[in-house]
Amino acid sequence: MIGSPDGTLLEGDLSLDARLDALIATEQEGAPLPVFGLDEQIANNMIENCIGTMGLPLGLAFNFSINGSPLVIPMAIEEPSVVAAVSSAAKTISTYQGFQAWAPERNMIVAQVQLIDIQDNDMDQVMARMQHREKVIREEANEYCTNMVLRGGGVQKVTFHRVRRHASRESFQGQDLLVKYGVVSASTLPKRTERGITSQGRCSEWLVVHLHIDVGDAMGANCANTVAEGVAPFLSKLSGGRVGVRILSNLNVDRIAKSMFRLPFSHMGYKSLSGKDVAVRILEAYEWADLDPYRAATHNKGIMNGIDAVALATGQDWRAVEAGAHAWASGAGTYSERSTDAFSSPLLSSSANSPASGRAAFSSNGTNENDSHTTARKRQFGKDGDGDQQSRISRGDAYKPLTRYWIEEDAERLRQGYKGQDALVFCGELEIPIMVGTKGGVLSTNPVHAFTLGVMRYPDSKQLAMAMVTVGLAQNFAALRALVTEGIQRGHMALHARNIAISAGTPPDSVDEVTAYMIDTGKIRLSAARLYIEQRRLALYTAGTGIGIGMSVTAANTSSVNLGSEGTSAATNGMDGMNGTNHGSSIHHGPSSDGVISDAQATERSH
Ligand code: MEV
Repeated sequence: MIGSPDGTLLEGDLSLDARLDALIATEQEGAPLPVFGLDEQIANNMIENCIGTMGLPLGLAFNFSINGSPLVIPMAIEEPSVVAAVSSAAKTISTYQGFQAWAPERNMIVAQVQLIDIQDNDMDQVMARMQHREKVIREEANEYCTNMVLRGGGVQKVTFHRVRRHASRESFQGQDLLVKYGVVSASTLPKRTERGITSQGRCSEWLVVHLHIDVGDAMGANCANTVAEGVAPFLSKLSGGRVGVRILSNLNVDRIAKSMFRLPFSHMGYKSLSGKDVAVRILEAYEWADLDPYRAATHNKGIMNGIDAVALATGQDWRAVEAGAHAWASGAGTYSERSTDAFSSPLLSSSANSPASGRAAFSSNGTNENDSHTTARKRQFGKDGDGDQQSRISRGDAYKPLTRYWIEEDAERLRQGYKGQDALVFCGELEIPIMVGTKGGVLSTNPVHAFTLGVMRYPDSKQLAMAMVTVGLAQNFAALRALVTEGIQRGHMALHARNIAISAGTPPDSVDEVTAYMIDTGKIRLSAARLYIEQRRLALYTAGTGIGIGMSVTAANTSSVNLGSEGTSAATNGMDGMNGTNHGSSIHHGPSSDGVISDAQATERSH
């Protein structure tokens, strides 16, 4: 564990060297400092045609309180001000109750097996037979993940889904040609007419088997794929279908993590705006994102700024997290009954008037959730019609912001005697499928992850998912707050100037000076930075071989460190603290300069 009992780690203007020294001085146990990045020889064994490793800035987000526990959260990201923004939002939210987060008790993954060529006339019978043999299938599947079973996990349930094939011939151009020239038999395809698929075609549906596997604290992709491939021949024999694709699903409604916060208006004042004005404006911004997918995409991009950065820092398959997020944002997937029950939390139930989630719960009979998917889509799209038509028409409408914001009259505050506007709270929530793991995968290959997970006090997969969804929510709140108040360009230009200073070859310890010169003179350009460097006879800094190669954090050779910049960097300001509270986390927050993140730095940068 590392800590900074004297608070030096949190002081606003630390240089990178000083920050690392503070970390090293307080190192007690666990992940040792300095942390070195991925060894090239190891990297060479990880992927094909490897030519080296590359780095990203690694920062720490502060001020988070999740379910009453403080947490320092590592973030790896190249975009300035994201770390500062989430730390700033977390600071505001921690002035009231902090974040309340939830993740499912079991860390589930779904492996899918596609069974093809089942005749329409047989499908009902095959479904019934498979459902009847669910226990046998489960036992057979568990043979392919015996270690998980020994640890109390393994395949927990098997569900069966009928996926109707495309109705129109045009959907898959060329299928007619395959039949015409004898490549495939017409009997294996749906019977398509000008009016769509006929009810009794030949093979109008596929049977897709979902194996719901508890993978403990692993992300679980390997386990899922092994089980899917292992059990597929057995499923083929039982169903009479031919095995198609066998792979995990990255849309995992069994792993929806959720975070929320509540703030009375009195805690929301920002810049020159009152708390209630900030609240109203954020609601307007949210409503716009809800109505307009062009805005929703940007809104969600910001959320992923936070989530991806934590995923990267902690060695997660961030593409899996992204894929799940996009599918969810597009309206795919529903809750299972179990997940919905578990969403009630003390914080949530204190509300006098909690609206149902935009993605309402659907009961799952454990057999054919396809029906509930269809119901969800119809509900959301508000139309019926055949599948093709529906998805084509509705795709644009279905893409939604991942967060939700609303106002409540707070039962607890009413009880405490608050009245009128003072009893209202502004609520924010993010729920999203997050597939992560804290065991296995690349976690043991890259030493940086031992360090970053150590900073988080070695979370289990559930805690990591909760931290990630919380950072996503904090990012979105910070971005909207900045967007509805001063905008983001002021901060952006200051950050842009820093990047120009660096590109011009400014030595690291003069970046602040050159940046300030460009901002003061209003000349934010390469030529101005170069002229200044020349006139001040600063030694040109060339980011040579050491720079950014490996995600290395080394006190001895800080020139190879790409961990934020010195002085008033966004990351440094993000460390502004919690006024002497010992957060009980691996890094102790000492007395901070009461520095609130500067306007410019607390805002998000747009591209
Ligand atoms: C920039 O990376 C992220 C934002 O565009 C997010 C948003 O607009 O909500 C600032």
